[in-house]
Amino acid sequence: MKVLVLGSGAREHAIVMALAADPEVDAVVAAPGNPGIDATALCVPIDILDGEAVVLLARHHQVDLVVVGPEAPLVAGVADACRAAGVAVLGPSAAAAQLEGSKSFAKEVMASADVPTALAHVCTSLDEVEAALDALGAPHVVKDDGLAAGKGVVVTDSRDEALAHADRCLAKPGGRLVVEEFLDGPEVSVFCLSDGETVVALSPAQDFKRVGDDDRGPNTGGMGAYSPLEWAPAGLADEVVARIAQPTVDEMRRRGIPFVGVLYVGLALTRRGPRVIEFNVRFGDPDGQACLARLESPFGQLLLATATAGLAAFGPLRWSADRAVVVVVASQGYPDAPRTGDPVTGLDAAAEVPNVVVLHAGTRRDDGGSLVSSGGRVLDVVAVGSTLAKARKTAYRAVALIDLPGSHHRSDIASRAERGEIVVEGLS
Ligand code: AMP
Ligand code: GLY
Repeated sequence: MKVLVLGSGAREHAIVMALAADPEVDAVVAAPGNPGIDATALCVPIDILDGEAVVLLARHHQVDLVVVGPEAPLVAGVADACRAAGVAVLGPSAAAAQLEGSKSFAKEVMASADVPTALAHVCTSLDEVEAALDALGAPHVVKDDGLAAGKGVVVTDSRDEALAHADRCLAKPGGRLVVEEFLDGPEVSVFCLSDGETVVALSPAQDFKRVGDDDRGPNTGGMGAYSPLEWAPAGLADEVVARIAQPTVDEMRRRGIPFVGVLYVGLALTRRGPRVIEFNVRFGDPDGQACLARLESPFGQLLLATATAGLAAFGPLRWSADRAVVVVVASQGYPDAPRTGDPVTGLDAAAEVPNVVVLHAGTRRDDGGSLVSSGGRVLDVVAVGSTLAKARKTAYRAVALIDLPGSHHRSDIASRAERGEIVVEGLS
C-alpha cells in the first residue's frame, strides 16, 4: 500500500517511519514533510489546509490512505474532502474535529455520554466568569474555547490573572471560554483509534508540557515524553476505553457525526478516578512519538483498518517490552520568542547512538543545503531501552551530541517515574 502523510513535525516524522516499517507499505509521500522525513518519504510542498490540493496529490500518487497529522487540516475539513473524493483517510470530519476545536462542544458531548471530566462553566461575559471563579474556587482553570496552539489555558491561584486571561479570550471574535474545576493528579495521554464504532487504545504515555525542569515556566507544545507508565493502574487503557473513549465515540455516532481517527484522551488521575482534561483528535506531539516507538503491530495496516471500519477484525496490538523516552531539543527563546535559522549539527553522531532515533520537529535546509532550525521545537531524540533508566540515559547521551546554538531541553524527562515518585492517590 501507499500512504500520504500530512504535516511537517516530529509527530509526522515518527508516523512516516512507523509506516515505512510496515512490510505492506511500499511507499510514503509526505506533504509538506521536513528534511528528516525526506530521507524516507517523497516530500511535496502543498498547502495541507486545502482539501482539493490534498485530494489531487492523493490521486496523483494513487495512495491507499491519507494520514492527517495535525489538527488544523482536520478542523479545516481536509478529511471531509478526502472522503467525498473516495480516498480513505485517517482523521475525523470537520464536525467531529470539534471535539478538539471547541472545548465547549467537547464538554457538551462528555456530559451527554456521561464521561467523567472537570466541572465546567461556559462563559461569554466577565460577570459569568467571576461567578464561575467564585463557584469553583482556586486554583483557577480558564480555557479559551477555540484552538490556541497550547496557549489557550491558564492555571493559576491568582484571581486577577484568571480574569486577565478571560478578558483576552472574550476580546476575540465570538469570544467564549470555559472555567473549569482544577483536577489534581498525574496527567496521562491515552491515544484511542476509532473507526467510528470500535475503539482500540494504544499504550499510555506521559507528556511534559512546561518548558522548564520540575514543571516550571510557561506551557509549551510538549518538551518530552515517555511510555509505558509503569506506575499507572493496571487496566488504565481498558478503563479509558470503557468509561471515556467508547461512550464518546458512541455519542458522536448517535449524533450523526461519527468519529474516525485518533481520539487523544488527556487525563488527570485524580483520587476520584480518571477525569478528562481535554480531547484532541490526532496523535500527541511528542507523547505520540513515545507511544509509536514501542508499537510492533504493522502501523499502515492498523491505520487503514481504522480508516475503513476494520478495527474490530484487526486483533490485539503488539508492543515491545522496551521503555521509550523522548527529549525535545528546543530553540533559544522557545516558547515565548523562538529564534530560528541557527545551524543544527551533530545529528549523525546522535543517530549513531544505539537505540536512538532523531526526529526532525522544526528544521529546514538553507540555500546552501545546510540544516538550520525553523521552529520552536527543533528535534526530538527518541531512545528505547529495557528499563526507563537505560532509555533515559541513552536519550540524554544522544542529546549531548547535538549542537544547536542557544538551544535548551528539559533534563528531567521521566526522572520522577524512574525514581518511583509518581503516586496515584486513592489506589492501594
Ligand atoms: P489543555 O490545553 O486543555 O490540555 O490544558 C493544558 C494544560 O493545562 C494541561 O495539560 C494541564 O496541565 C493544565 N490543565 C488543563 N485543565 C486543567 C484542569 N481542569 N485542572 C488542572 N490542570 C489543568
Ligand atoms: N503533547 C500535547 C499535544 O500534542 O497536544
